[in-house]
Amino acid sequence: MRVGVLTGGGDCPGLNAVIRAVSKSLMLNCGASVVGFEDGFLGLIERRSRDLSYRDVSGILAQGGTILGTNNKANPLKYHERGGADVTDECVAYYNELKLDGLVVIGGDGTMSIAHAMQQKGMNIVGVPKTIDNDLMATDRTFGFDTAVSIATEAIDRLQTTGQSHQRVMILETMGRYTGWIALEAGIAGGADIILIPEIPYELDHIVEMVKSRENRQRFTIIVIAEGAAPKHGSMTVRETIDSSPDPIRLGGVGNVLRQQLEELVDSEIRTTVLGHVQRGGTPTASDRILSTRYGAHAAELVRLGQFDRMVALQNGKLTSVGLNEVANKTRKVPIDDPLLSAAAAVGTSFGINLGDHK
Ligand code: F6P
Repeated sequence: MRVGVLTGGGDCPGLNAVIRAVSKSLMLNCGASVVGFEDGFLGLIERRSRDLSYRDVSGILAQGGTILGTNNKANPLKYHERGGADVTDECVAYYNELKLDGLVVIGGDGTMSIAHAMQQKGMNIVGVPKTIDNDLMATDRTFGFDTAVSIATEAIDRLQTTGQSHQRVMILETMGRYTGWIALEAGIAGGADIILIPEIPYELDHIVEMVKSRENRQRFTIIVIAEGAAPKHGSMTVRETIDSSPDPIRLGGVGNVLRQQLEELVDSEIRTTVLGHVQRGGTPTASDRILSTRYGAHAAELVRLGQFDRMVALQNGKLTSVGLNEVANKTRKVPIDDPLLSAAAAVGTSFGINLGDHK
């Protein structure tokens, strides 16, 4: 048996742990050989791959990034270097030339959409859900998310001591694209006073009221804002757009927009920290290493059983798999009845709006 593996989209802590688990499981349990594609789908398009030995995938469990490289612009269905041409047939030809029995694709929703299309073209694909954003459908958890939440939580802890010392409003902008999972979980773990997420458009007046009441008592306020958050009747803060990319919109900057708006309305000094790619770098947490290992081993098992066009998933604590079509081009948002929201509200955390008014 000969199996390919690639990492697509943005990098994320735990990618190497998945590569290791997929490769070792296939080598040890099926005597398979493993081929790694370089730089995500770009390696498939540009015919760049290399055989992975057992030694290549040893000692990488705790290593951040991806030993294979990745790319979040190359889409074989709309290849930007050739005027948006569909180059999937060339990819399938390369896959066949390499005599692959299957391909494990590790990525987010954009990558899963491409993977599903490639399956229709004749490749045998198993997906593994990756993203710090935790926004993939049909799985309770993506690997990388726990690490991002830990990093953002540590940032809040650090902002709290400096914010408290200077009696300031400290705004932390987290990643998460169109969802607020990172901001929500880190905000709760770090005891943020206000958490602003895309799923709940905020009202500036509400935030001002909260900050003013804290100015009279605690004298500092911690606000965690997800990059995709927006005011009620307002729009998200877009940093740039790249039309040909599977992930065309780059968000960023809302933390500074909020600072400017608040500065006019409250007495405290305000500082914004944009956490950015720190959330994606470095070693994965123990929990992410375990999840990555479970996902990788399960993906190898699906390949061995010939169960393709599927993505491994975690549902109610158990490993399972779902059709790639259930995940492709979909986003899992924070539901308004999520128990995390009510727990946070119960301890006085504001979501920038009266939650009862939010339908
Ligand atoms: O999807 C992961 C993610 O880190 C998002 O949270 C963020 O919006 C985006 O990728 C950033 O992309 P880039 O690495 O292209 O700046």
